[in-house]
Amino acid sequence: MMRAVAQQRYGLSSVLETIEVDVPSPGARDVLVQVGAASVHLGDYFVMTGKPYVLRLVFGLRRPRHGIPGRDLAGVVAAVGKEVTAVRPGDEVFGWSTAGTLAEYACVPADHVVPVPAGTSVVEAAAVPTSGLTALQAMRDIAKVRPGQTVLITGASGGVGSFAVQIAKLLGAEVTGVCSSRNVDLVRSLGADHVVDYTRTDFTRVDNGYDVILDNVESQPLAAVRRALTPAGTLIPNSGRGGRWLGPLGRIVRARVLSGFTRQRLKPFASVEKPKDLLALADLLLTGQVTPVIDRTYPLHEAADALRYVGAGHTRGKVVVTI
Ligand SMILES: NC(=O)c1ccc[n+]([C@@H]2O[C@H](COP(=O)([O-])OP(=O)(O)OC[C@H]3O[C@@H](n4cnc5c(N)ncnc54)[C@H](OP(=O)(O)O)[C@@H]3O)[C@@H](O)[C@H]2O)c1
Repeated sequence: MMRAVAQQRYGLSSVLETIEVDVPSPGARDVLVQVGAASVHLGDYFVMTGKPYVLRLVFGLRRPRHGIPGRDLAGVVAAVGKEVTAVRPGDEVFGWSTAGTLAEYACVPADHVVPVPAGTSVVEAAAVPTSGLTALQAMRDIAKVRPGQTVLITGASGGVGSFAVQIAKLLGAEVTGVCSSRNVDLVRSLGADHVVDYTRTDFTRVDNGYDVILDNVESQPLAAVRRALTPAGTLIPNSGRGGRWLGPLGRIVRARVLSGFTRQRLKPFASVEKPKDLLALADLLLTGQVTPVIDRTYPLHEAADALRYVGAGHTRGKVVVTI
C-alpha cells in the first residue's frame, strides 16, 4: 500500500484527503517511480477547483477521472516493465504522469521520464517539467527568439516566467522582466537585462517596441500590449486565467482571429510534453545554464495548501510537494 492524495469532487477546500491505496504495478513499457517530489502549477489548481467549468469536459463532469492530482514528478525508479531498457531501478528520474503524482509511487510510461542530471536535487528536478517545457517551447519554438532580439516577459517571477527569462537570455535576447517590487532582485538574478516593476510602471506605456512579448499575466488589454510590440513582433498571450465558464478561451479565439488581420504574430499556444524537450532541459540543468527557482515546499498532507497558494497567483518560481 502507499499514501496518496485523493480527490473525490471539485472545490476549493476539503476536497483533498490523504488515503492508503494499492501501489500501481508497471506494465511492460512502464516505470514505477518512488516519488520524492512533485511540483504543482496553476493547471493542477484548476483541476482541484473544477473551474473554469469547461475543463470538466476533459477531466470529468462531476469529479476528476484520475483521483490523484498532480502532473510533474521526480524520484527514484522502484521497478521497470520487462520492455524498459532506458532506466533501471535505483535511477533518479523526472518527468510527468497523466495518472497523478501526489502519491508515494507513480506509474508512468518509460518515455515520460528522463534521468535527473548530476548536481540537480529531486526537488529542483520536480519543479521543471510543465513550467520548463512551456517556457522552452514558447521562446524557442513559438517566438523563435534570435540573438539580439528584445523580449519582454510578464510574470517573470512566476513558474513559467522564471524559466522563460533564463531561456530567452540563452537564446541571445535582450530580456525585460515585468514583476512586482519584491521580485525585482530575483528577476535580475535570473539574467534579465531590464526589470519593470509593474506597481510603478505600466510596461505598455514604455515606448520600446519589443520583438517578442510572453504575457503570462494578461492584466493589460490586448490592444495596449500590441502597442508595446514591433509591427511584425510576436505576442504569446499565455495566461490560463479567465472567466469561470470558459477560462481564457474567449481571449485565445480573439487573438487567433485578430492574427489574420495584422502583421504581428499573435500566438497563444498549449505546451506539449515531449521527451526530447525534457532532455534538452536536463542538459541546461546539467550545465548550470538554467536553475529552477523554488518558492516553497509542502509535505504531502498539505498538498491542498500548496495548490491554494499557487492559485493565489503570487508564487516566486515553483511550489513543490515533497513526499
Ligand atoms: N501555454 C501553456 O501550455 C501553459 C502551460 C503552463 C502554464 N501556462 C500559464 O502560464 C501562466 C503563468 O504560469 P505560472 O505558473 O508562471 O504562474 P504563476 O506562478 O502564478 O506566476 C505568476 C507570477 O506573476 C507575478 N505577477 C502577478 N501579477 C503580475 C503582473 N500584473 N505583472 C507581472 N507579474 C505579475 C506574480 O508575482 P506578484 O504577485 O508578486 O507580482 C507571480 O510571481 C499561467 O496563467 C498558466 O495558466 C500556460
